[in-house]
Amino acid sequence: MTGDPPSTTRRSFLAGASSLALLAIAQRVCGQTRSSPADEAAIEALIGRMTVAEKAGQLSLFADPIRIGTQDRINPDAGPKIDENLAQRIREGRLVGLFNGTGAAAGRELQRLAIEESRLGIPLLFGGDVLHGLRTVFPIPLGEAASFDPALAERTARAAAVEATAHGLHWTFAPMVDIGRDQRWGRVAEGAGEDPHLGSLFAAARVRGFQGRRLSDPDSLLACPKHFVGYGAAIGGMEYNSVEMSEQTLHEVYLPPFKAAFDAGAMSSMSGFNDLNGVPLTAHRALLTGLLRERWKFRGLVVSDYTADRELIMHGVAADEREATRLAILAGVDISMQSDLYNQHLPSLVDSGELPVAVVDDAVRRVLRIKQLLGLFENPYRSLDPAVERRNTRTTSARQLARESARSSIVLLKNRGDILPLRKAGQKIALIGPFGADVANLAGPWAPFADMRDAVSIEQGLLDTLRDPALLETVKGCDPEQEIRGGFERARAAAKDADVVLLAIGETQDMSGEAASRTDILLPIVQQKLAEIVIATGTPTIVLLRNGRALALEGAVRDAHALLVTWFLGVETGHAIVDILFGDHSPSGRLPVSFPQSAGQQPFWYAHRPTGRPQTTAEDPYWKARYRHVSNEPLFAFGHGLTYSRFEYGELDVGDGRMAWDGSLSVRMKLTNTGPREAEEVVQLYVHDRVASLSRPVRELKGVQKLRLAVGASRDVSFTLRRADLCFYDAQMKLVAEPGEFSVWLAPSAASGVAKTFVLESPAPGG
Ligand code: BGC
Repeated sequence: MTGDPPSTTRRSFLAGASSLALLAIAQRVCGQTRSSPADEAAIEALIGRMTVAEKAGQLSLFADPIRIGTQDRINPDAGPKIDENLAQRIREGRLVGLFNGTGAAAGRELQRLAIEESRLGIPLLFGGDVLHGLRTVFPIPLGEAASFDPALAERTARAAAVEATAHGLHWTFAPMVDIGRDQRWGRVAEGAGEDPHLGSLFAAARVRGFQGRRLSDPDSLLACPKHFVGYGAAIGGMEYNSVEMSEQTLHEVYLPPFKAAFDAGAMSSMSGFNDLNGVPLTAHRALLTGLLRERWKFRGLVVSDYTADRELIMHGVAADEREATRLAILAGVDISMQSDLYNQHLPSLVDSGELPVAVVDDAVRRVLRIKQLLGLFENPYRSLDPAVERRNTRTTSARQLARESARSSIVLLKNRGDILPLRKAGQKIALIGPFGADVANLAGPWAPFADMRDAVSIEQGLLDTLRDPALLETVKGCDPEQEIRGGFERARAAAKDADVVLLAIGETQDMSGEAASRTDILLPIVQQKLAEIVIATGTPTIVLLRNGRALALEGAVRDAHALLVTWFLGVETGHAIVDILFGDHSPSGRLPVSFPQSAGQQPFWYAHRPTGRPQTTAEDPYWKARYRHVSNEPLFAFGHGLTYSRFEYGELDVGDGRMAWDGSLSVRMKLTNTGPREAEEVVQLYVHDRVASLSRPVRELKGVQKLRLAVGASRDVSFTLRRADLCFYDAQMKLVAEPGEFSVWLAPSAASGVAKTFVLESPAPGG
């Protein structure tokens, strides 16, 4: 037996209150993510008073059945119905909290039930999917990663936290830090793209932004890097599919963003739906406990993904729900999301001796520690104040930030003849395509709390900006995936009649996101047809792509005068796009995912290994590692993005070209803005280990600097490389750096730049 039998007597309630008070006192002296010995003692005392059923309750999370809010696309109802008996569940302490419901007043009432009417008075934890804003929607995470500006992501995450906590949330299931190298996978949209270095910078920045200064601050949102781990490598890019990968790739590519997030203070994580080399993550003890807790010393909690514990049965590693429960908790999944399995099976598993109660206690300890760090024991009503909710909803400053982050996310891929920027007056503009006036596809695939009432379409942005709005003609041309009667004819006529066409084409938001994998990454056929018709008129055409992944661009679209990637940019879409189109701001975004030549090249990413027969030039098809009809060169490389100025990269300076074993190497170059405008350049540092015991990627990103330079200005750009930047996992899975020759580039993309070589020297004898 572990604790008192359930009782609702006054006496036991008061006893519960005293442990709450003890926790509250301890809370005041704790730091951001560390609990004091007094906190820990208070938690132990509380655990000592809990029944196993109450413990199971603290490990069971449910979708909020009554405060669903503006969500129109929710998870399948795969869990138990808890709406009729929600109050009773709370009184009985049979849930740790709720997720994906918002509303301060209603949340307060639910919290009151937990505090005043449950035996132990343990506060509820309210979570939700806040990936890129709550009501005020910022660009999708992939889009924002294109800013190559983690500080910006930190600011949008902070703003999201302020709004989300005002609406009663304590916990966001974000950032999503899965690396996405196969663009067929729909969830590429939710992450920071294909690169572990960039992914790590964004993971850490977002954690800092969400969690703020101290977790106990009322506007701090507990971060939850997800989905631990490898989920993005689903075979064939098919959602929820199995993952097969080497230990080396796991540790070098897929784990680093998680490590960065935990190092930045993230105190929770969500395990992935996927299996990895046959072991579903929900049952992956080696990773959840061995790596995460024991090696990385992670002290936070792990929550399963939605009903993923029950899905162990479908994975074929558990015979029934009871076994699934046991596997998940033993692996290190502290909280079961939505299946109710822990409530149903933990008590009897403990009773029968199949599960040591110490395992359950460990999980409960981690959960209570989080509640305590969030300040919930001291102030259970934190983040549940309707006045703050009113004040901090859709603020002007959040809205301004939405515009800034949206325009920083736009990537200019091509600008033939410097057709951009456009003049605000004196020319007829035809806005053609299904996304010109569209407001239904601005938020992106997973912004379940978005308030898009006054979101700005491209058309609206133009009307707000053009001196003579009568010079704008908007024609839809077609629906995203089907023709409309007379659409092509109207589009052709409008294009002919205009001085310039803005062609708004791409993906709807439900073509990406969860459960939205595509077999190809082309524009929908009907939109490709529309593009062919419009571009054939000869009117200069600027393509505005809307997309949640890299696309394979074909035909006339490639020949357009200008191409801009505009992702799903959120509430300020139209304004951000006009900021760039008319040159009030120069574009500064860069691709966080490679654009291939052909859809069939997926997965396609820049940091691949060289092969024994690498293609040496784009024209070299013979007996080389490439497909018959396309070159391996990306159509647009990772890191690529133009602006309205030009930057000249000076010669690379690596000093004497030698890095001592315990030393560093400074890599310098003079950058000059030789173009006509002040603009920003993203200087990228890449390395390649030329000869190593394992074949190393052709290039790997190791540093990024985004710099603003006035016209004619120069700047000495300098990076410092250390041995740690050159490490990899060898055949024995030892993290090593191997002395020898390396290439280094400072570059505007993964396919260009100025290069030198340097040598990592051997350690001094005895060193
Ligand atoms: C998704 C998670 C999400 C959860 C709760 C799942 O289907 O994979 O990313 O946090 O639902 O909405």
